[in-house]
Amino acid sequence: MEVYTDILSLKHTLTGLKTRKTIGLVPTMGALHRGHLSLVELSNSTCDITVVSIFVNPTQFNNKDDYKHYPRTVEKDIEMLQRAGCHIVFTPTEQEIYPEKDTKVFDFGDLDKVMEGKFRPGHFNGVAQIVSRLFDIVQPDKSFFGQKDFQQTAIIKNMVRQLNLTTEIVIAPIIREQDGLAMSSRNTLLTDIQRKNAADISRALFRLKQQAASGVSVNEITQVAIRQINANPELSVEYLEIVDGKTLQPVLNWNHQGEIFACVAVNVGKIRLIDNVQLK
Ligand code: PAF
Repeated sequence: MEVYTDILSLKHTLTGLKTRKTIGLVPTMGALHRGHLSLVELSNSTCDITVVSIFVNPTQFNNKDDYKHYPRTVEKDIEMLQRAGCHIVFTPTEQEIYPEKDTKVFDFGDLDKVMEGKFRPGHFNGVAQIVSRLFDIVQPDKSFFGQKDFQQTAIIKNMVRQLNLTTEIVIAPIIREQDGLAMSSRNTLLTDIQRKNAADISRALFRLKQQAASGVSVNEITQVAIRQINANPELSVEYLEIVDGKTLQPVLNWNHQGEIFACVAVNVGKIRLIDNVQLK
């Protein structure tokens, strides 16, 4: 496995490989867990070369404290990637990625006006800035993202269409801890008690899924799930929405055509976690 910190050497290596090999890209912000490793596995099984980028992207943080405290474990990450059979790791500095301030503004229509976009202004513009740069540098045949960041996957697919890129976007299922908590780099920031209580988030989502199947109204199951999560004093729901899988706009009843997802953001103390489950 090779580790690159500068764009030119990485590009040089990739240009040599590209004529004969397919390239898979797994963009990450590090603090890797089994969710990330499942993306590496998926890339390894469908591409010749897997490139993993590790970069805590400042432009997607709307909260300075969140950026400052985001877990950084690069050495451990590199060891994990080595064991997982990754071929190339790209760990650029901020100066390398953004020698000048990135002023690009994307228009995602209604996609970034809801849920994460509403509560984290500018977040998805920052995600699009870094992901478009990574796509430009690596020119991957396929790119792998986790379903946990459900809205992010919709934004990235939209960006690929807007920019007429050819990379195929592959979305991998959420990997959960034994008690159901969706894996996230932010889970490492939870205290033991918070970590235990955080499992109530997915419990509420799974209960909601059962109730949806038995026909309880969209409005009622939303309110019940919010009450269930908030009943735990460690947890506070920021939003819980039942939305169309493509447009991400709220779904009003179960006759809705197309896929339906329940998406939630919950504050566990100062740590903000998200999760989602497909209902239809
Ligand atoms: O999902 C993430 O970890 C980040 O948003 C991503 C896609 C690596 C961009 O910084």
